[in-house]
Amino acid sequence: MQNEIQKSSLIKRGVLTLSIACASFILVNATPAEAKGPLTAEVKTETIKKTTLTEERINAVLKEAYEKFKDNQDGKNADYIKALAIVDSKIFGITLVTPDGKVYEIGDTDAKVSIQSISKVFTAAKVIQEKGEKFLQEKIGVNATGLAFNSIIAIELHGGSASNPFVNAGAIQATSWVEAKDSKERWDKIYGNMDDFAGTKLSFNEEVYDSEVNDNKNNQAISKILDARGRMGSDPLEATTVYTKQCSVNVSAHNLGVMAATFANDGVNPITGKKVLDKEYVPEILAVMATAGLYDNAGDWLYLTGTPAKSGVGGGILAVVPGKLGIGVVSPPLDKFGNSVRGQLAAAYIIDKLGINPFAQ
Ligand code: DON
Repeated sequence: MQNEIQKSSLIKRGVLTLSIACASFILVNATPAEAKGPLTAEVKTETIKKTTLTEERINAVLKEAYEKFKDNQDGKNADYIKALAIVDSKIFGITLVTPDGKVYEIGDTDAKVSIQSISKVFTAAKVIQEKGEKFLQEKIGVNATGLAFNSIIAIELHGGSASNPFVNAGAIQATSWVEAKDSKERWDKIYGNMDDFAGTKLSFNEEVYDSEVNDNKNNQAISKILDARGRMGSDPLEATTVYTKQCSVNVSAHNLGVMAATFANDGVNPITGKKVLDKEYVPEILAVMATAGLYDNAGDWLYLTGTPAKSGVGGGILAVVPGKLGIGVVSPPLDKFGNSVRGQLAAAYIIDKLGINPFAQ
């Protein structure tokens, strides 16, 4: 009898746990299974040909991409961070930068939006530079979650691990591991590192910071869970605040183009000539961008472009064609995965038309 009761209570507990798991999954992953981003096979307009990247060709394709997508009004600004909802949705700028420092741009390439999740790439780069590839792989992880970028259940589903440095969990963790004696030093290093990638002093968006820092309980909860699992390098709430600051740095398409080109140029900024990341670590950061840069839509992106890329809910997107091109696009309206619609379309078009998909070389 006692056994029966124990069995029945175990079954009830199992059913309850499963129901909670399913409910949480639906909460964090509210995107229906059939929902798609803007990338379909139609972005591939021609059989990939090897073309020479002449200035004329790059300018022509850049203009085509701008004209083709400038009137696209699909998607919607992020609004879960209130200050992002009021950013001008019409902003559309594209910048391409070659490893030898030539800049090609069109549209609103100086218009600034907050960098948001694109900042995660640079903090991960700082961590790999300071602590090495084994640390990044083992302490934070380098696998896709297949779930939304702010998922809490993804942590539990993956053994208490963030999975990778580009979801909020792994990014907050990465922030906490940047070596510093205090929070100010940690923030100064992270900010300075982004400036070095951009080759200029980036401004800070107080309005976005105030809006997010007062409304980031989900991220605070994530940091506490990771702390409970022994994965944080500093106080969890302090790290969440520094993470929120790094997301509030302003960038333009021009800045993102140069930052992308620094990766395309083996970690050396092609405009300033400064080495920002050791060449040996560039492939690892690009691999995580390819795996998880566009979150639960990363597969569709990689399938059609073959390039590492990273998006932010501010509307920026950065794509890297190693040895060939850095691409920065800004356009605030997002798809259901939190990725800029026109950003993805324009970058995918340019990669396709220039015949620079790295898998087709
Ligand atoms: O933590 C957040 O939710 C934001 N500061 C950043 C999220 C983000 O940009 C996701 N990217 N597409």
